[in-house]
Amino acid sequence: MTFDMPLIVFEGLDGSGKSSLMAALEAELNEKGLPVVRTREPGGTPLGDQIREMILRTEGPAPTPRTELLLYEASRSQHVDQVIRPHIQKNHWVLCDRFTASSIAFQAGGREISEEWVEKLNEFATGDVRPDLTILLDLSVNESRRRRSQRESKGGGSQDRMESEADHFHEKVRRSFLEQASREPKYWLVLDASETPEILLGKLLGHIRGLQWLAY
Ligand code: TMP
Repeated sequence: MTFDMPLIVFEGLDGSGKSSLMAALEAELNEKGLPVVRTREPGGTPLGDQIREMILRTEGPAPTPRTELLLYEASRSQHVDQVIRPHIQKNHWVLCDRFTASSIAFQAGGREISEEWVEKLNEFATGDVRPDLTILLDLSVNESRRRRSQRESKGGGSQDRMESEADHFHEKVRRSFLEQASREPKYWLVLDASETPEILLGKLLGHIRGLQWLAY
């Protein structure tokens, strides 16, 4: 399947600034009159939002690693079928906060489930839909922790179940993201998340223009 408008995924440790960069790109595309939808995983659909709540809450029963993976994949298949594929078919730009690479990073990297299984389940959940570009906002674990606690102390809600994991878990997640990016450099753009929002947007737009997805 080939598409005219891209599916762009944003990945990174929690606190890496994905939401701000996505909002800035969305605003640029809107300004140019281009049709764009912004969505996220887990979630993006009513059922996906319920699954998100089950996975990320800190109270109540915690899923085992395999169950956790299946819940992320269940949210994903619903999201691909009900949101991502329909928008791609309508020729819209789709900006997605996390996708298959997060399952590789968190469930294979962090939880140490075999990557082969995660890949198979990713494939089952997504079918023919693949990101055209994945942006990795790379951040050190120290800085991610600092930003998460700052957000918490400013009243931005307490840390969820994944965020509450120890530093060595987040180190494995970061390493996996970087490995994935280095395996497929054509489909990834790695940005240094400690740079200013203006610089990050400038680099992202420059890359997208280089791919000739934006004419100006
Ligand atoms: P968010 O805070 O960026 O919205 O993401 C929710 C959490 O879920 C985040 O800690 C990463 C985690 N996650 C996984 O572990 N596996 C996945 O497949 C996805 C999409 C997210």
